[in-house]
Amino acid sequence: MLKKDFLWGGALAANQCEGAYLEDGKGLSTADCFTAGNVHTRRIYTDGVIEGNYYPNHKGIDFYHRYKEDVALFAEMGFKCLRISIAWSRIYPNGDDEVPNEKGLQFYDNLFAELLKYGIEPVVTLSHYETPYALVKNYGSWRNRKMIEFFARYARTVMERYQGKVKYWLTFNEINTVTFHPEVPTGIRLVPGENARQVCLQAAHYQFVASALAVKIAHEVDPAMKVGMMLLYPTFYGETCKPEDQLETMFSIDNHYYFSDVQVRGYYSPKARKLWEKQGLKLDITEEDLKIIAEGKVGYLGFSYYNSNVATSNKSERAMMGGNVLNSVKNPYLKESDWGWPIDPIGLRLALNNLYDRYQIPLFIVENGLGQEDKINEDGTIDDDYRIDYLRKHIEALKQAVDEDGVDLMGYTPWGPIDLISMGTGEMRKRYGFIYVDRDSDGNGTLNRRKKKSFDWYREVIASNGEKL
Ligand code: BG6
Repeated sequence: MLKKDFLWGGALAANQCEGAYLEDGKGLSTADCFTAGNVHTRRIYTDGVIEGNYYPNHKGIDFYHRYKEDVALFAEMGFKCLRISIAWSRIYPNGDDEVPNEKGLQFYDNLFAELLKYGIEPVVTLSHYETPYALVKNYGSWRNRKMIEFFARYARTVMERYQGKVKYWLTFNEINTVTFHPEVPTGIRLVPGENARQVCLQAAHYQFVASALAVKIAHEVDPAMKVGMMLLYPTFYGETCKPEDQLETMFSIDNHYYFSDVQVRGYYSPKARKLWEKQGLKLDITEEDLKIIAEGKVGYLGFSYYNSNVATSNKSERAMMGGNVLNSVKNPYLKESDWGWPIDPIGLRLALNNLYDRYQIPLFIVENGLGQEDKINEDGTIDDDYRIDYLRKHIEALKQAVDEDGVDLMGYTPWGPIDLISMGTGEMRKRYGFIYVDRDSDGNGTLNRRKKKSFDWYREVIASNGEKL
C-alpha cells in the first residue's frame, strides 16, 4: 500500500509552459534561445533571440496568464502536489542583479496561493533547464565560480519569500545530463577542441556547491523545508551476459551515480577521484567547497524515469533506439514509442530498487510519462488509451517496488499533466498531458484546454491512492 500522504500530482517546468518570456521584467533565459526543432532536426541554441527563427518557449502554453484555470483542473483530478520550477530570470533578470524583480516574485506568490487554496503542495525546482542568458554572456555561465554566489542569492531570495508556502524543493533538474547536452542544463557552449569532460565536470562541481548551499540556506530559513536532488535515471541492461558487456553496464551507470553520490552522500567517491586521474582532469575544488558539499546533503532523491537503455562492449554499428537525452542500441524485448523511446515499466522497478538500495533515503518519482500525438474525435473527445496503458503499468511497477521490495517512495508526478513544449524537440505535438492544449508545433491554435480520457482515469487513481488502475 502506498502511504496515506503519498504525493500524487504532475510536473511542469517554467520555460516549457509559462510563456510571457519578457513580461513583467523577466530577463532572457537560455531556454528562450532554443529554436523549434523536430524529431529529425535538432533545436539550435542561438546567441540571444535572432529574428526569423521560431522560439516555441516564448509563448509556451501561456501558463503565466492561464494558471488559475489550469490549477483548477489539477485540483479536479485531486492533485496532492504540483511540481513547478521558478524561472530564475523572472526573479533576477540578469542573474547578477542586486535587487530581485518584485513582479516576478509576485507571480509565484499568486501561483502558490492558488495551489494552496486547493490544498495542492508545491514542489519547486530552482533550476529546470534555464539560466539567465546574461550570465552566459557576461560570465560564461557555469564555467565560472561566481555562479555559485549568484545561485545562492537567488535561492535565498525565493526560500525566504516563499517560506511557509513551499516545503519541498529540488535544486538542479537532471543535474547528471551536463556531460550529455551541457547547453541545456548549464547554458555552456563547448568550443571545438576543448576538453568537454573537463568543462562539464567543472560546471557540475560548481553546481554541487551551489546546490549544497541551497540546502543549507533552506534549513536556516526554515528547518521544516525538505530539499532534494534531481537525477535522470537511466536503467541500464547489458546487451548480453558476456562479462565485458556487464562491465560496460557498470561504467555506464557509474557516469550517473557520480552525481547522486556527491549530492546524497556529501563527498566524491574514490571511483570519481580515479576517473579524474584516468581522464587527466584538473578540477578547481577547494577544501571549503568540500566542506559545504558535506554539510549540504540532500534529504530526498527525486528522479525522472522514462525508459531504459542498453550497454554493450560491441562497438559495431547497429540500429539505435532513442530515449530521454541518451540513445543506445536497440532492446529487442521492448516496444518503442513514436519518438523511438522504449517502454519499460520493469525498468522503473529496477530504478527504485537500485537507488534505494544504494542510498536508503526517500525517493520521489518527479517525472515519467509517454510523449505521443493525440487525435481529437469528431465529438471533441480524446481517447488516449496508450497513455493510460503506459502510466498504469508504471504505477503497477512502483507499487511492486514499495509493497514487495520495501522502497520508501514519497510520491509520483508524471511529466506534463497538461500538454507543453517538448524540451528535446521543441514540438507541441509530442504530448504528455491529461489536459489537451490547442496549439500546434508552429505556434497556431487557440490555447484552449480540453480534458482527455486519461483525465478521469488519473482522478480515480488518485482518489483510490493507486488501488484502482
Ligand atoms: C526531462 C526534462 O528530461 O524530460 C523535461 O526534465 C522534458 O524538461 C522531459 O520535457 C521529456 O522530454 P521531451 O524531450 O519529450 O520534452
